[in-house]
Amino acid sequence: MNIQTAIIELSNHYGAHNYSPLNVVLKKGEGIWLWDMDGNKYVDCLSAYSAVNQGHCHPRIIGALCEQAQELTLTSRAFHNEKMGLFLQTLCQMAEMEMALPMNTGAEAVETAIKTIRLWAHKVKGIARDQAEIIVCRDNFHGRTISTVSMSSEQAYRDGFGPFTPGFKIVEFASIEALADAVNERTAAILIEPIQGEAGIRIPPDAYLAGVQQLCAEHELLFALDEIQTGFGRTGKLFCYQHEAGVKPDILIVGKALSGGVYPISAVLSSREILGLFTPGQHGSTFGGNPLAAAVGIAALDVLIDEDLSARSAELGSYLLAQLNRDWGFRDLIEIRGRGLFIGIELSVPVRPHCERLLQEGVLCKETHDNVLRIAPPLVINKKEVDFLLEKLIPVLEPLPAQANVRMAV
Ligand SMILES: Cc1ncc(COP(=O)(O)O)c(C=O)c1O
Repeated sequence: MNIQTAIIELSNHYGAHNYSPLNVVLKKGEGIWLWDMDGNKYVDCLSAYSAVNQGHCHPRIIGALCEQAQELTLTSRAFHNEKMGLFLQTLCQMAEMEMALPMNTGAEAVETAIKTIRLWAHKVKGIARDQAEIIVCRDNFHGRTISTVSMSSEQAYRDGFGPFTPGFKIVEFASIEALADAVNERTAAILIEPIQGEAGIRIPPDAYLAGVQQLCAEHELLFALDEIQTGFGRTGKLFCYQHEAGVKPDILIVGKALSGGVYPISAVLSSREILGLFTPGQHGSTFGGNPLAAAVGIAALDVLIDEDLSARSAELGSYLLAQLNRDWGFRDLIEIRGRGLFIGIELSVPVRPHCERLLQEGVLCKETHDNVLRIAPPLVINKKEVDFLLEKLIPVLEPLPAQANVRMAV
């Protein structure tokens, strides 16, 4: 038996089957590239769901990891550690926020944001204890914990996992009217993704976030943004909300690329007035804010800035999108949309077969919601590599024969 097949069998035998991965076993990564166990090389178009914006095994981040691992890894929050304050300062200054609460995974950060909102709702807004409601949007993805699936409208995420956490109202995405209709005296916050990533790169109309912000201001609600996937340069700005002038959330939730994919690090950022409400014992995490995470986080943020990855994402993202949107006559195409290097190709058919074909061509893509192909390579990609990607991608999307002949004028 081939070694890759044996390893897949091992995973399938001992691991719960909560994923349906493509048939490839990866062994090594560098920049935008991944290698399987047979030495085949692939362009990564998923970036671990946008966690690896800085590229695989970025030497500066790995250097920080190794150096810190030899000094001190975990103290718990029972004691101070040398690195956490510096990390949170770097993050807060970058995001122009006053305070941060560090956690590990994205879902944990969303849970933390929910607790923050509820705490504020009772202590500041004066909503009766345990009565606060949070408005969220249909087709959202905020994680897999019980409370985050309680916010979800997706049956596949919820089926069989009830009873669910109360206190969420689900309304249509991208509609200010729907949000406004849902507000009542118990509403504490609106919590949304600025672009719905897992729903298939769904981009709201212009000025949507400004509208949400205004609605929040009118009704004394917190405006909470989940930028776990869209943050840190993915959409061509450091944070996606920066595409709209004058917009700034009260609560910003980040994760994934906060570590460049090297370590699970997430955080909730907000004002002193809001995050300052927490008192000792109300919330915590053994690993949250540990010195290894902090050292990795500082390096990952430095790389984003020093390599100007948001600008690269903006520039190469619009180039890639423009090339894909040429008149190819792709078969079964519904729409190609994107912002920065966060692009969704929506077809009228399931795209899993396209992913399988791309795998054979040396491109790793994964479907989202069956019929959307997500193109989200590490932001360290260069123009030549984008052209290479286009050369692989376009034939798999089956352009009209006449167009295929003029193909690579990219
Ligand atoms: C917008 C958003 N929120 C939350 C999460 C959950 O993050 P994690 O998988 O680290 O728990 C994700 C993961 O894809 C996400 O895209």
